[in-house]
Amino acid sequence: MKQEITAIVGVLVTIVTAKIHHLFVGNLAQPSAIYALSFDTETFDLKVTKNITATGSHHWITFSNQKTSLYGTSFFTPEISSYSVLKNGTDLRLDKVLQTTKRCGDNDRSAHIVTLQREPQTVYMASWPGRPGCGTVLSTLPNGTLSSVVQSFDYSSAAGIHGLALHPSDSYMYAADTTGDTLWTHVLSNNGTVSKTQRTNVSSIGKGPRHVATHPNGLWLYTLFEGSNTISAFPIDTQTGYLGSPSHRYSLLPGASYKSPINSTPPHDDKYWSAEITISPSNKILWATARAKGNTTDFGYISAFSLDSKGTIIDRLFIVPTTSTGGIANSVSVAPDTDEFVAMTDLKNTGRDEGGWGNGYVQIWQVKGLDGSAPTAKAVAQADIKDGGCCANVIWYD
Ligand SMILES: *[C@@H]1O[C@H](CO)[C@@H](O)[C@H](O)[C@H]1NC(C)=O
Ligand SMILES: *[C@@H]1O[C@H](CO)[C@@H](O)[C@H](O)[C@H]1NC(C)=O
Ligand SMILES: *[C@@H]1O[C@H](CO)[C@@H](O)[C@H](O)[C@H]1NC(C)=O
Ligand SMILES: *[C@@H]1O[C@H](CO)[C@@H](O)[C@H](O)[C@H]1NC(C)=O
Ligand SMILES: *[C@@H]1O[C@H](CO)[C@@H](O)[C@H](O)[C@H]1NC(C)=O
Ligand SMILES: *[C@@H]1O[C@H](CO)[C@@H](O)[C@H](O)[C@H]1NC(C)=O
Repeated sequence: MKQEITAIVGVLVTIVTAKIHHLFVGNLAQPSAIYALSFDTETFDLKVTKNITATGSHHWITFSNQKTSLYGTSFFTPEISSYSVLKNGTDLRLDKVLQTTKRCGDNDRSAHIVTLQREPQTVYMASWPGRPGCGTVLSTLPNGTLSSVVQSFDYSSAAGIHGLALHPSDSYMYAADTTGDTLWTHVLSNNGTVSKTQRTNVSSIGKGPRHVATHPNGLWLYTLFEGSNTISAFPIDTQTGYLGSPSHRYSLLPGASYKSPINSTPPHDDKYWSAEITISPSNKILWATARAKGNTTDFGYISAFSLDSKGTIIDRLFIVPTTSTGGIANSVSVAPDTDEFVAMTDLKNTGRDEGGWGNGYVQIWQVKGLDGSAPTAKAVAQADIKDGGCCANVIWYD
């Protein structure tokens, strides 16, 4: 009898403390699907809860600022889709598909999208692969649903924009121009449109800037370079939003010296193309990933760097290989409320012609040893989504 009561109490405790997170992941290729997932931090159970029909392959998905809407870029058509987020982040309903062709010609396929956190809630995307590069500014209804294209603007003829990041003041936006080896600083007007643009040639610092992230203190723009497989921290002048010069580059590949001064030629390793950079909720960890080129036996790598209270990069905490070879996504996404868990996606590219886009998955990685000893991370849960198109980026609803 006593044993039974203990067992029941045990079950109740588990239910009370279990924490279920809800996530969404988009597809890089056909079929057009977005998957809803749930992750239990007690049992490490990660599962797909719904296969939701999408309007296209959304290479990037993001939420509106209240998470009432989810926006998806389209890599194969010049359009962007807006969905209502339903049932506590477990379902979606399509509200609108906007055409974005206005000035961008047929290059306006986009790989990234961000949402302004202030009013008027404004959404930004830019063309990838571009050439010429072009940016699009979209307005929303008060409830977050996309409304219309309010501005389109050109970059240079060499530009292909892969990553965007907003400054925490919501006054500036940064664009990582992978093909043009440039970082673009945009000054945003009160109504959200781009009023001024400044160009920073970063070719001496790294090759192929791909994604960018700002520190919440507004003092740093962290830039990941796809071609040189490095990251660097650019100081931001908070009066103008403009970028100063970084002092170091940090490698995302294993090797003896991960840190080097900027006065040397950027490295290049054809076997890898680095992907994603993001900052943890405590602002203490900077995450970055390197993908191995598709159709190889090489593993990708996940790196974590420690940041001090001002946002300066201090040290590489660890670099660990991913669990599969020849992946092409390696998109890390931090949990909204803890440094302990990050989600990561991948997809093995054995060549589209061979129908080889079929081994996609979402993983949850758990970080251990952050209190000092020997920090590291490992995959603790995986949901396989073998539809031939999954997975692009994953986002946490809660
Ligand atoms: C916002 O309002 C529009 C118009 O009433 C509606 O179609 C849409 O579903 C709403 N969006 C959300 C996220 O509730
Ligand atoms: C959403 O969550 C709230 C709070 O936990 C709950 O009361 C509500 O029933 C949930 N709604 C749905 C549709 O699941
Ligand atoms: C937004 O503000 C700018 C600068 O004040 C102005 O030039 C532009 O016409 C405004 N655009 C819209 C759509 O209101
Ligand atoms: C950027 O700088 C490099 C090195 O000085 C130079 O070769 C290149 O032409 C510059 N790019 C542009 C677009 O000005
Ligand atoms: C992948 O590797 C296989 C075996 O070497 C080869 O037959 C195939 O053409 C490669 N696919 C691509 C896209 O490189
Ligand atoms: C999700 O649904 C689509 C459309 O029916 C289908 O093609 C795809 O295989 C499904 N995904 C999974 C993982 O079953």
